[in-house]
Amino acid sequence: TAKLNSVAKAAGKLYLGSATDNPELTDQPYVAILSDNEQFGQITPGNSMKWDATEPEQGVFTFTQGDVIADLAKTNGQLLRGHNCVWYNQLPSWVSSGNFNVSELTSIVENHCNAWDVINEAFNDDGTWRSDVFYDTLGEAFVPAALNAARTADPSTKLYINDYNIEGPGAKATALTNLVQSLQSSNVPIDGIGVQGHLIVGSIPDMKTQLAAFASLGVEVAITELDIRMTLPSTDALLQQQKTNYQTVIEACQSVAGCIGITVWDYTDKYSWVPSTFSGQGAACPWDENLVQKPAFDGIVAGLS
Ligand code: G3I
Repeated sequence: TAKLNSVAKAAGKLYLGSATDNPELTDQPYVAILSDNEQFGQITPGNSMKWDATEPEQGVFTFTQGDVIADLAKTNGQLLRGHNCVWYNQLPSWVSSGNFNVSELTSIVENHCNAWDVINEAFNDDGTWRSDVFYDTLGEAFVPAALNAARTADPSTKLYINDYNIEGPGAKATALTNLVQSLQSSNVPIDGIGVQGHLIVGSIPDMKTQLAAFASLGVEVAITELDIRMTLPSTDALLQQQKTNYQTVIEACQSVAGCIGITVWDYTDKYSWVPSTFSGQGAACPWDENLVQKPAFDGIVAGLS
């Protein structure tokens, strides 16, 4: 039977990957599938490299949990996406407190950003900047501060800006396009745009157009957090529609050379973030809660073939 990363590589992509999280790693059958690098060529830590996990107190860095995921990727021969550096969510209170002036918070951002999905979810859906401790204190300057620091810390790691609701054309995609162009014209390092891809069965935006538009900026593009949720209970009809939707999304990436890879936001419904956030919704992943492949799995394969 086909395996996702093998099919993706044969189709010219760099990887097909999955998110994962430390508490899941005691589940041996889960880990066995996750660790098969023909199935997944890349992994992303779902939580353990976020700010609250890595710098819980100012200047006290704890990479223990993040390193578990990094080591797993290394052992498995998988790529790693670092996730994330600057995000309004999952901040320790010493950062979100807003107790710092411009030069203090700039140093804090620079000190924290050593790689990865450097800027996460900086815009509101209407394309205006999100109000958070970074923007409210520093204005747009937190973006170049973080990117420059990340490049200095690790010259070989790809630096991404990552967001959701930028899958199709619209105000937010335009705002991100303008930001990338302005960073490029001021020589701030930016290598890629991460399109998260938290989608809903039956309403898939025009991703082909938008992924091509992002790639035409001269940066790489990746689908970084793909899942396609439905209102429960799942029915055969919904699962078939989900399969078609997965295929459409994958084909959009497949049609754009600059779309280099795809990551599902965990591969199984067993560990999906969706039901706890959207009550009554779920079944968003290509494997079900019993680690059995769903029609969506075949949709991914078909999209790459
Ligand atoms: O760590 C605590 C634990 O100590 C406590 O007992 C437990 C009780 O609820 O909560 C645990 O924290 C949870 C954490 O995941 C770790 O499991 C948080 O409540 C929960 O909110 C958090 O959810 C994560 C979410 O980001 C937070 O916004 C999801 O697992 C994670 O998949 C999700 O991922 C985000 C991406 O980073 C960015 N894009 C959107 C995506 C989906 O929201």
